[in-house]
Amino acid sequence: MKKGKHRISIKTGKLRLGEEKPVKEKGYEERVSTGIPGLDEVMSGGFEKNSINMVSGGAGTGKSIFAMQFLVDGIQKFNEPGIFITFEEEKEKICKHMLKMGWDLKKLESENKLMIVEYSPDKVKKMLAEGGGEVEWVIGKIKAKRMVIDSLTAFSLLFKDELTRRQALLDLFRIIERWDCTALLVVEHESEVERHDSMDVEFEVDGIILLYYLRKGDVRNRALEILKLRGSKHASRIFPMKITDEGVKIYPEEAVF
Ligand SMILES: Nc1ncnc2c1ncn2[C@@H]1O[C@H](COP(=O)(O)OP(=O)(O)OP(=O)(O)O)[C@@H](O)[C@H]1O
Ligand SMILES: [Mg+2]
Repeated sequence: MKKGKHRISIKTGKLRLGEEKPVKEKGYEERVSTGIPGLDEVMSGGFEKNSINMVSGGAGTGKSIFAMQFLVDGIQKFNEPGIFITFEEEKEKICKHMLKMGWDLKKLESENKLMIVEYSPDKVKKMLAEGGGEVEWVIGKIKAKRMVIDSLTAFSLLFKDELTRRQALLDLFRIIERWDCTALLVVEHESEVERHDSMDVEFEVDGIILLYYLRKGDVRNRALEILKLRGSKHASRIFPMKITDEGVKIYPEEAVF
């Protein structure tokens, strides 16, 4: 699984970021449940353990709820602590919104099962320069096994030109790979488009999930597509998705319209 990723270190030559993790044995494919009812069964059981994945969609498509559900489910069902790094929404707002899904994030934080970290631009640059810094410390402290960055788009916009931006993203991926975590990175792209806006790093991640809010006539329905899942079988249909007070759910047996 880690094979493809060594490509990044060769390209960037960033040896300063630390030692390589030992390459896992061939065929090592432990799965990590997505926490989304209906989704694991159409993606060979979930994300690959310690892989880097993206959930991408337009405004209000449910990206943040999806990502938080991945963490909360991991804590509640698998006792796997998680870290949520936010570049946009304030922590207070996130906690308030997610409480509607019945997720008491403050309680999970007090139990050291979850950490929500608000990141400012200067902190991000420091993190990259230090090769992890505070985030690495938090991950070690709660022994996080799952991590979310909301959003990678906001992160990348902190860097002005395209080259610096791409380099920063690759540096970030290299840091994430050193942690014993399955990562889910939120990416924003324009709604309504079938085309998936490129951040130019899609080739570097293991999995990509797209969220849609599709319109047909005067009706709009939510939908989900698995665009990529490196080394695994996955369904190629677009599935209906719903957001309710219990979070996100997909319906593999049904049609979007
Ligand atoms: N309890 C609920 N029942 C049904 N739909 C809900 C519920 N709570 C939130 N939603 C829907 O979820 C959407 C917001 O989800 P979320 O914040 O995850 O989206 P997002 O893709 O992260 O948005 P943004 O691009 O603004 O960050 C809202 O637009 C709303 O329609
Ligand atoms: Mg969001």
